[in-house]
Amino acid sequence: MEKGKILVINSDKLVTETLVIFLNELNFKVILAFDGRKGFQLFEKEKPNLIITDVKVPKLDGMTLLKMIKKIDQNVPIILITAFDDMNSIIEAMQIGAYDCIENPLDLGKLKSIVTHAIETYYLSKRLEITSSELLNKDDENIIVGKNFKIKEILKVIGKVSSTRVNVLIEGESGTGKELISRVIHNSGVTKDFPFIPVNLSALPETLLESELFGFEKGSFTGALKNKKGKFELAEQGTIFLDEISDISQNLQVKLLRVIQEREFERIGSETTIPMKARIITATNKNLEELVQQGKFREDLFYRLNVFKISAPPLRERKEDIPNLVIHFLKKINRDLHKNVNKIPYEVIEILQNYEWVGNVRELENILLQAVVLAKGEVLEKENILLRKIKKNNTRKELIDPSLAMMEKEHIKNILDKVNWNKKEAAKLLKVSRQTLYNKIKALSIIPS
Ligand SMILES: Nc1ncnc2c1ncn2[C@@H]1O[C@H](COP(=O)(O)OP(=O)(O)OP(=O)(O)O)[C@@H](O)[C@H]1O
Ligand SMILES: [Mg+2]
Repeated sequence: MEKGKILVINSDKLVTETLVIFLNELNFKVILAFDGRKGFQLFEKEKPNLIITDVKVPKLDGMTLLKMIKKIDQNVPIILITAFDDMNSIIEAMQIGAYDCIENPLDLGKLKSIVTHAIETYYLSKRLEITSSELLNKDDENIIVGKNFKIKEILKVIGKVSSTRVNVLIEGESGTGKELISRVIHNSGVTKDFPFIPVNLSALPETLLESELFGFEKGSFTGALKNKKGKFELAEQGTIFLDEISDISQNLQVKLLRVIQEREFERIGSETTIPMKARIITATNKNLEELVQQGKFREDLFYRLNVFKISAPPLRERKEDIPNLVIHFLKKINRDLHKNVNKIPYEVIEILQNYEWVGNVRELENILLQAVVLAKGEVLEKENILLRKIKKNNTRKELIDPSLAMMEKEHIKNILDKVNWNKKEAAKLLKVSRQTLYNKIKALSIIPS
């Protein structure tokens, strides 16, 4: 399969021949130009995915060519071949926006990793451009975007639990998608034709909460002017989503335990027993098990709620999903705001991937919303991305903690960067198998700098 089209601009016959053979072997189609002017014409006509040009070519030199091309197409990566010790050209080329420079005589191993990486980058930015011009369908709003292995595991658990009404506990930091996951569970199986009833347990004082959950009979307390169904009743055979479960009082914990154990309840002020048929999904951003150990949360209730547990991973542990999340949210935001911001330069993606995302996916969505509002045209400029500065004394512990995982991550990343992300070479240097290296890259979310 052809991987892409590369335009080679070079007047040196030997270099050109070497490049053609080498790139063909890597499954690239190669187009040749022996001078700069012809090179520019072919760029416009053939729209290559990558350009490799010598700094010194007849008629139009490489640097001028670079400037002209960059004016027309910000995305296409351009690799310059420079003389061995031509420091000034290297600096100038990178300032203008060359993807990389490589010295003559060519080191083919190095060239291979630069070309492979450049093409991946190019397709990434291209993809962000094309697909994000589509709008998001209303039906697509409740989809879980992500390819990270933890997300895939979550999808598997959703598949397992959605065919019955077992209780599910979802743990995760704020903004990691706990409510979204619970909606997807609800929509994917036996509950989908019944109501989804979310209740935020930390938003109401206890007495109100109780009548919200269980309902009441007319006259059962001052202000109970007519009968009212509670959330358990309203959920029918659907899902009741209890958010912030760790915040409920001991008293309410007992009442909840009873509903789950007996699978029935009464409205406040009523003798009539009502069967409880809904599935209960609970969410918490605290570690519920710890609260059990500290005696703050009933152990028996914990086990009843925790038949299945899903842990929503923080965004900083799945940074590889950021490009797809950006596409997803831009479609949604463009639709809602009637805007058409559909070009995202790769450097913007890089900025987003280098950020810590303490507020997780919700924070990403908010930053993008703000950026789209600020964007003047179709391009999401880096100036539109207003990230919160993380204060020094506010920095999360992991950032300053030289834990083994952090050191390992740093070390592997340094090695990878050093060999231009040639994983075979990196694995050799690190003295591990290539599979181990892939696993580490995934687990530690290592990305190129
Ligand atoms: N994997 C994902 N794919 C697409 N959108 C997501 C994903 N995860 C979260 N979101 C979106 O991010 C926003 C926040 O998610 P959600 O409200 O589910 O998080 P939460 O964990 O309940 O947060 P909180 O603890 O603050 O209530 C929502 O708009 C949700 O649709
Ligand atoms: Mg929530």
